[in-house]
Amino acid sequence: MIKVAFYDTKAYDKPSFEHLAAENDIEFKFLETKLNEDTAALADGCDAVCVFVNDTVNASVIEKLYNSGVKLIALRSAGYNNVDVRAAFGKIHVVHVPQYSPYAVAEHAMALLLTSIRRIHKSYNRTREYNFSLGGLTGFNLHGKTAGVIGTGRIGRIFIDICRGFGMNVIAYDLFPAADSGIDYVSLDELFERSDIISLHCPLTDDTTHLINSDAIDKMKKGVVIVNTSRGGLIDAEALLHGIKSRKIGAACLDVYEEEANVFFEDRSGHILNDDLLSMLISLPNVIVTSHQAFLTDEALHNIAETTVSNITSFFNNDDGMCNNELCYRCGHIEHCKKQRKQRCF
Ligand code: NAI
Repeated sequence: MIKVAFYDTKAYDKPSFEHLAAENDIEFKFLETKLNEDTAALADGCDAVCVFVNDTVNASVIEKLYNSGVKLIALRSAGYNNVDVRAAFGKIHVVHVPQYSPYAVAEHAMALLLTSIRRIHKSYNRTREYNFSLGGLTGFNLHGKTAGVIGTGRIGRIFIDICRGFGMNVIAYDLFPAADSGIDYVSLDELFERSDIISLHCPLTDDTTHLINSDAIDKMKKGVVIVNTSRGGLIDAEALLHGIKSRKIGAACLDVYEEEANVFFEDRSGHILNDDLLSMLISLPNVIVTSHQAFLTDEALHNIAETTVSNITSFFNNDDGMCNNELCYRCGHIEHCKKQRKQRCF
């Protein structure tokens, strides 16, 4: 029996994971608390931990897990910016779910965009109170507008297809442009200058932290709509607020927020929000915030559970422990990457 401490459990996690646990000889210890320095000890006696986007997996947490015998960190997410993969290297193996439903996220990005520019969030509230007036609800057509897509991986490309379906012109920026993809790549500055809508689909790294800052916003078109379903840290939220208040930014659609960790996924409706910046953003009529919900579809939950369980079982049950979804700080470096030689990362 493989014992797994399952941190930050949400009601929607349990059915899909419980269903697979028994048939794969896994015992999940479902914990509502997030993983951090104070809660790492709850994994004592477990072979693995299963974590999500707002668990803290820094060097000191990794050291504690390692000392208590944990051998695997199984992320049930694609992004892994919350894990210090360099600190884990040589101690605890890390696996993730590289893809579970890029459609879920790309479709949510478009849902946010449409809601925002057609003021659906406003009209929904109005008609519930039998207010059928149209004042202030004027939107604009997406057809013929230019979408600037930053990051053309799995999700970015689906978002591009969706935009093309709406008759939009699409330009894109990626650190590693995809050859022969038919995507019109431009420099980041050109993307900022030409886009009516900017949608972020790149990972959060040292290079991309605050990619959208005041300098970038200065270069953008007046009235630009910014959509972020990727990671909060890509946007300097203070600069965003300033850009909205100065009327430079026309609207913002945010599924992620840099300081989301202790707020998103929780019911805080009976509390006073101790984040003035988030309160201010939420209060603005041209800002829509969803709480890291883009992934949340039946299809994605099913795929997340299936891949996570398969990552855990292939790590513990395969003779060589090889798992295709293992990752480390050397991933992508051709000369160092052992995975490309069908070996464990270390
Ligand atoms: P992917 O790995 O398929 O694509 C990422 C793309 O970003 C790649 O083409 C890569 O070359 C590019 N990139 C890397 N560094 C860059 C840089 N400095 N500048 C521009 N482009 C850069 O990833 P995928 O599956 O498309 O996911 C994208 C992001 O979406 C993830 O990193 C994650 O943060 C976020 N995400 C959000 C979810 C949500 O529920 N809101 C759910 C799943 C993912």
